[in-house]
Amino acid sequence: MRFSLLTRSAAGAADFSRLDSASVEFRDVVKTYGDRRVLNGINLTIQPGEVVAILGPSGSGKSTLIRLISQLETLSAGEILIDGKPTRRLQGRQLYQLRSHVGFVFQQFNLYAHLNARDNVATALEFVHGWQKAAARERALALLTQVGLADKAEHMPSQLSGGQQQRVAIARALASSPEIILFDEPTSALDPEMIGEVLAVMKALAHSGITMIVVTHEMQFAREIADRVVFIDGGDILEAAPAAEFFARPQHPRTRRFLQKVLDPLHQESAG
Ligand SMILES: Nc1ncnc2c1ncn2[C@@H]1O[C@H](COP(=O)(O)OP(=O)(O)O)[C@@H](O)[C@H]1O
Ligand SMILES: [Mg+2]
Repeated sequence: MRFSLLTRSAAGAADFSRLDSASVEFRDVVKTYGDRRVLNGINLTIQPGEVVAILGPSGSGKSTLIRLISQLETLSAGEILIDGKPTRRLQGRQLYQLRSHVGFVFQQFNLYAHLNARDNVATALEFVHGWQKAAARERALALLTQVGLADKAEHMPSQLSGGQQQRVAIARALASSPEIILFDEPTSALDPEMIGEVLAVMKALAHSGITMIVVTHEMQFAREIADRVVFIDGGDILEAAPAAEFFARPQHPRTRRFLQKVLDPLHQESAG
């Protein structure tokens, strides 16, 4: 029945069943909630395999920006192209295909509390992607091994630390072999001593071929891992530059103020 939901234009526009490279292009993207504009016309192209860090103050529109890519939110105006194909009008099977090519890791890990680590990863493969149970469980174990959790496969989320739970969530996001993975402040809910293990997994993933977009406050991670840093404030991209350049020579006064605050929080008042 899903097919009956397809509009003709969408059917002609996109085939996400074979997505080899995965660029992401925002064209004049606007998002409003009621009267409130939270993205003001975003233009940004992310290359296949690129690692992009999105920085900006709270409420600036960072989450909204990446949630639009996987259509957790709907566009108000403009277009987002993935692999050069417009995504705005996708419905039904094509929307489902798009989503299976985009992994999402949330700040709150959102694991199923009643399933062990392995089944948290396998469930999506089985029930969303139609895998056989045995194959799904095998792939789940391979993915948990990749994130360093082979020995925790049968543990329930409540038996895992926050860092381990977030690594399970990363394994789950990778289950459908996405070409794009989105992270929304993946370490912000973690105790400080657990941040490193999650960043290490992300570092291993970066430049593995997958396109990676990371909303983060981890400046060192952004500086070391990202190809490019995009700074958003008030729903606008104020600056986008290679990471080294961004941190060495921030161009916009608001970028400089933001960096001063996050890099030297004790002296933010005097920095004005
Ligand atoms: N579902 C929603 N309804 C109304 N306003 C929202 C909704 N989601 C986010 N906003 C508003 O949009 C703005 C941008 O939010 P968000 O993208 O979450 O910012 P960030 O991730 O940078 O903190 C904020 O002012 C927020 O309050
Ligand atoms: Mg956010």
